[in-house]
Amino acid sequence: MSGRFDHCRPQPYPGQAWVLYHVLSMEPPLADRTKTYDNLGGIVIRRDSKSSGGKAWVLAFDWQTKAFRKFAGIGKTSLDWKNQPWLHVMYNRFFATRLDRPDDFVSVVAARTLDTSEEIQTLIRLGANPLEILLGPDPNWSESNPKPSNKKDNMMIFKPFMREGFMPLPIAFISTRSADKVRNIAPYSCIMPVLRPLDLICLASAKKRDTLNNIRETNEFVVNLVGHKFSDKVIPTARFSKPEADEFELAELSPKPSSMIGAPGIAGAYAWMECRLAGFHQGPGYTLVMGKVLRLEVNDACLTPEGTLDLDRTKPLMMFGSKKGMHYCTTADLNQFDPFGAMFPDNRDPLAPVYEEGTE
Ligand SMILES: Cc1cc2nc3c(=O)[nH]c(=O)nc-3n(C[C@H](O)[C@H](O)[C@H](O)COP(=O)(O)O)c2cc1C
Repeated sequence: MSGRFDHCRPQPYPGQAWVLYHVLSMEPPLADRTKTYDNLGGIVIRRDSKSSGGKAWVLAFDWQTKAFRKFAGIGKTSLDWKNQPWLHVMYNRFFATRLDRPDDFVSVVAARTLDTSEEIQTLIRLGANPLEILLGPDPNWSESNPKPSNKKDNMMIFKPFMREGFMPLPIAFISTRSADKVRNIAPYSCIMPVLRPLDLICLASAKKRDTLNNIRETNEFVVNLVGHKFSDKVIPTARFSKPEADEFELAELSPKPSSMIGAPGIAGAYAWMECRLAGFHQGPGYTLVMGKVLRLEVNDACLTPEGTLDLDRTKPLMMFGSKKGMHYCTTADLNQFDPFGAMFPDNRDPLAPVYEEGTE
């Protein structure tokens, strides 16, 4: 496409509003999924919605820029779209629809301004269709502040992948052994119990984890719940180490023998869940590991006289994320309480009988 147009750079953020259009389709001339289109890459028209014809630009993601490669998570991986231009289109579309500001990543503009709607029609005839609105006008745009903002009604809009910035998560240490009995520890924050009153716990694991390999090999693991003092053990156990390295030794942590499985827990944790593998769910790039808790042991010193978690004494280790890293934190008791029954119309918790015996 670029060969048909002069090369030019648009003014930054023209007009009072901006609209993005995805312009390449899977229709002809892209119907032949294996044919190579060298000029493929122009994917968005940025258009001033004030004027009907629209000043518009054909823009292109530059997959070669460092910033875009970093954002796309492709680092130095070399990309070859040859024979699969449709894949290029799919990826462009993926990023165009997920980025708040796709044009932040447009470093090459292979187009000219389009002054009339006829020129946009020409583009459409050339195969740049269907036109589709990706983002509507930015209400915060003004002459004095031409950069579209990500603020709306006093709300800051974050990218969806920033989830863990706003939900403090536990940092649990997962201890495992390989089939050869090499001991391993890794911090995991993507961990949750599965419903009440089940005994299942679920971990989300990246595929390349010794922890995951060990669970596959041995069907067991320990979830170690730790207090704030373990914060200096996070990085020593999170750093890459060879599968044959004993991570108890590396992190200078002592094992606590388990009662029902071979993998040891970590001495000094306040609670230990000895788990047997209950199943995997494979996703693209992640595996959910379901564990059945066989034994849940809690240090007496972390319990109130009523047998509940004493948060002041335990200070469970947690984290929330930010653009730069992990902020370690803990919880505070609000000293407010509601019984489970309060959720039900008759104030009775149907699971109450199960919980009558909470200890062994
Ligand atoms: C606070 C924190 C939480 C983490 N949570 C997870 C997680 O939930 N899932 C995961 O796959 N990796 C997580 N990681 C990354 C692993 O701990 C890290 O890659 C570690 O080296 C894996 O060790 P392994 O290969 O010995 O299993 C986390 C790292 C940190 C520092």
